[in-house]
Amino acid sequence: MTGKKRFGILTGGGDCPGLNAAIRATTKAALKMDYEVIGFHDGWEGLLFNRSEVLDSIKTSGIIDRGGTILGASRTSPLRIEDGPKRVLDAFKEFELRAIVVLGGEGTLSVANQMYEMGLPLIGIPKTIDNDVWGTDFTIGFQTAVQIATDALDRLRSTAASHHRVMILEVMGRHTGWIATYAGLANGADAILIPEITMDKKNIDELCQMLKSRKQRGINFSIVVVAEGVELAGESIHGPSLQIDKHEDPDRLGGVGRVLGELIERKTGLHVRVSSLDYIQRGGTPVAYDRNLATAFGIKAVELISENKFGEMTSLKGNRITSIPLKKVADRTRTVNMKVYKIAETFFG
Ligand code: F6P
Repeated sequence: MTGKKRFGILTGGGDCPGLNAAIRATTKAALKMDYEVIGFHDGWEGLLFNRSEVLDSIKTSGIIDRGGTILGASRTSPLRIEDGPKRVLDAFKEFELRAIVVLGGEGTLSVANQMYEMGLPLIGIPKTIDNDVWGTDFTIGFQTAVQIATDALDRLRSTAASHHRVMILEVMGRHTGWIATYAGLANGADAILIPEITMDKKNIDELCQMLKSRKQRGINFSIVVVAEGVELAGESIHGPSLQIDKHEDPDRLGGVGRVLGELIERKTGLHVRVSSLDYIQRGGTPVAYDRNLATAFGIKAVELISENKFGEMTSLKGNRITSIPLKKVADRTRTVNMKVYKIAETFFG
């Protein structure tokens, strides 16, 4: 296996800005070293159902700034399909691959680790707007989502001020509040609600008190950011009204912003409006930071393949690109750095 000059690449889980920059960098770096690169379509489905294409410099040119993924993405896991792992391993042999580069978030990378333990040589690259992958300071896509959320908050502030309202923005963040924290900090938000901090009755009352006291002090608008994964004591959050893809992910979140808005209005009598960024924060052009991180990760992945250092995930530590064994990353969640949250908290109230 070690001498083979062909490897595969796939993008699993939810998409994010910067995936194409990573596909481009990996492919172009590989071509320079005389590797052939096979792009598998729609995550693991490409290997399971034999959907792929050879990637060359023409297909990967002019895509560094394109959102989404030219390979397509899905949340399909070989571990949830009959004979899935065997089918993936068979496809790997048939294509005569040396390794697979798996671009994924927490879920995809945990599956990748299990596949590695079953004998599939692979390299992981962390990507998700949620930034909740263990073992790296940042994931591809996070900074773009933060920029989009910050722009949205800046816009919401001006209309909130005109109408003397409390404005709530719901952002993504299934298990963690990274986007909420970084965007809220950049915007100077008056409160940031994240899954890492329980919103019990006491915290909800304190939030309402704080919003009322701002009004009493003559500040007649407030900005509140809430991550989708936040739970509110005593309130049921029904989730999005449109749930047509139950087979892909039965646990779709969404709706906490609206429930929070109604709660604040009830408890304070203040005028509240709610917005949700939904998928807007996951689409479109990646910011320069994500393009450059994706490029560095792509090059690192090819280096690891050349060294036969499989079962690793590329990682950013400080300003250094390095790698970490996938088994240390799998089934773990990287929660918000509370030092950063505390900085944002300085400006609450
Ligand atoms: O990619 C992570 C994420 O953005 C989560 O924050 C969100 O809950 C989830 O994806 C929704 O993804 P989808 O509806 O595409 O499965």
